[in-house]
Amino acid sequence: MKNQIRFFKSQINKITTQHYQNSQIQRKNFVSLHPISNIIRILYKMTLQQEIQRRRTFAIIAHPDAGKTTLTEKLLLFGGAIHIAGAVKSNKIKKSATSDWMEIEKQRGISVATSVMGFEYNNHKINILDTPGHQDFAEDTYRTLTAVDSVIIVVDVAKGVETQTRKLMEVCRMRNTPVMIFVNKMDREGKDPFDILDELEEELKIAVRPLTLPIDSGERFKGVYNLYQNSLDLYQPSKQIVSESINIDIHSSELEKHIGDSLAKTLREEAELVTEVYPEFDREAYLAGKLAPVFFGSALTTFGVKELLDCFIEIAPSPKPVQAEERVVNPYEEALTGFIFKIHANMDPNHRSCIAFVKICSGKFERNVNYKHVRFNRLMKFSSPTAFMAQKKEILDEAFAGDIVGLPDNGNFKIGDTITSGENLHFKGLPSFSPEMFKYIENADPMKSKQLQRGIDQLMDEGVAQLFTNQFNGRKIIGTVGQLQFEVIQYRLLHEYGAQCRWEPVNLYKACWIESDNAAQLADFKKRKFQYMAHDKDGRDVFLAESSYILMMAQQDFKDIKFHFNSEF
Ligand code: G4P
Repeated sequence: MKNQIRFFKSQINKITTQHYQNSQIQRKNFVSLHPISNIIRILYKMTLQQEIQRRRTFAIIAHPDAGKTTLTEKLLLFGGAIHIAGAVKSNKIKKSATSDWMEIEKQRGISVATSVMGFEYNNHKINILDTPGHQDFAEDTYRTLTAVDSVIIVVDVAKGVETQTRKLMEVCRMRNTPVMIFVNKMDREGKDPFDILDELEEELKIAVRPLTLPIDSGERFKGVYNLYQNSLDLYQPSKQIVSESINIDIHSSELEKHIGDSLAKTLREEAELVTEVYPEFDREAYLAGKLAPVFFGSALTTFGVKELLDCFIEIAPSPKPVQAEERVVNPYEEALTGFIFKIHANMDPNHRSCIAFVKICSGKFERNVNYKHVRFNRLMKFSSPTAFMAQKKEILDEAFAGDIVGLPDNGNFKIGDTITSGENLHFKGLPSFSPEMFKYIENADPMKSKQLQRGIDQLMDEGVAQLFTNQFNGRKIIGTVGQLQFEVIQYRLLHEYGAQCRWEPVNLYKACWIESDNAAQLADFKKRKFQYMAHDKDGRDVFLAESSYILMMAQQDFKDIKFHFNSEF
């Protein structure tokens, strides 16, 4: 079948290129007129569909130190994308697994970048979108979550649910993203598994269903019973790559032979408890983001990771339809659509160019084919788009819905930009959240004011932070999630734009996007609060509240005004 398709494709390519060189749009029109075009179209559609269906694009999210990097590494190991024996994590692997390209990352030893790791596993194409562990870059993580079809949350068994995980789960909930949970570090003493399950349910506000059950923990950890496949996985700390899986019914007397009478009894009681207390695992509920399957394991010793991955490829969603402003885009549509969710500067320190990360939402992306940059209303083609296979970047010829493509960029793209085969589409869902910290940005070198302006504009387009311009005095306020972002901005303005900035304090609590159907009240509010009104980068009205009390009073006094804490409402 594949050969047939290849043959047909080469034939059609020969004919079409004779007539219409280089124009994909025209080529498509031509194809539809050709007599054999229908067969080809069907065959093409079949491969397109198969390619898209086998894609799994997800992010791993966790509070720092829960084991996200370790789990990512182990997944890459199973995918054959990296080869390192044993569980000891060398710094080299850690760096490449987290794409530590930016100079500033090297200086600080913190991975501030969100990168992509693709690999093949059991005939599935897996794309892991890594997210920065540091909480100051949470905004980056929020945006990455708009580009994934599902999420794996890693929780440390001793620490339970921590702040960062709670916040990120809120974003998943907003978008009904399907979530799986991996309770990590079972080789260490931690909380009771049922207490952890309760905590997950309560803190993450999602129904949970354990699909594996741990047998003891810490030094006495014996392994897990896989309720999903009715098998026993015995933990062998010395054997760190693949755990031994034995198909045993939980009621079989074989169980005692492997884990002893007492643990077998406890395990059966616990399995019964699971059946009584937790809902049956329902894939539809999982896909709707209403039920999270839970796995227990130890990423460091590669235990429980394969089970997680095997179940993941089976139940996790392939690319889903995406809501654009104009219509819902189905991933299996032939025409290409995609949006930029991330712009990464200076990945290669020898070249100062950026890489724009595109999430393909539908169809197939091809190298050297013209696509429409919707905001510019202009055709562009890309001669060296990159794929991210494990720790390597490589030039790609084609990519399908679900994949992430890196486009070398010299300032053409902004976060949220759309590329298509020709349609005018705008994707929704790249919200800005109210920053937590605010500072006035001032020019510290009057000779370089143009450079500063350009630098600020480009960094904001990259989504490094948010810019608010005070409507009263025109002063520029930068809003961030954490202190580190201010340092990144200052560093990058100097090193990339030769501009120097100075920060001045401003006492603000929150930025709220405001709207109202009551025009008179809105006008009155803006007049009364004129000193605290600003425009965001898209020119929308934002109220900068000085304190939670002031915000509360404003909400009370102006009942017809809606105060939003993110830009997507
Ligand atoms: P993060 O990306 O979520 O921040 O976490 P990371 O994987 O870097 O793991 C944080 C620490 O937890 C690391 O130790 C790592 O080895 C350890 N760890 C991860 N998974 C497990 C596990 O299943 N069991 C145990 N016992 N430890 C685990 P570190 O000492 O901070 O770093 P390193 O020197 O090992 O690199």
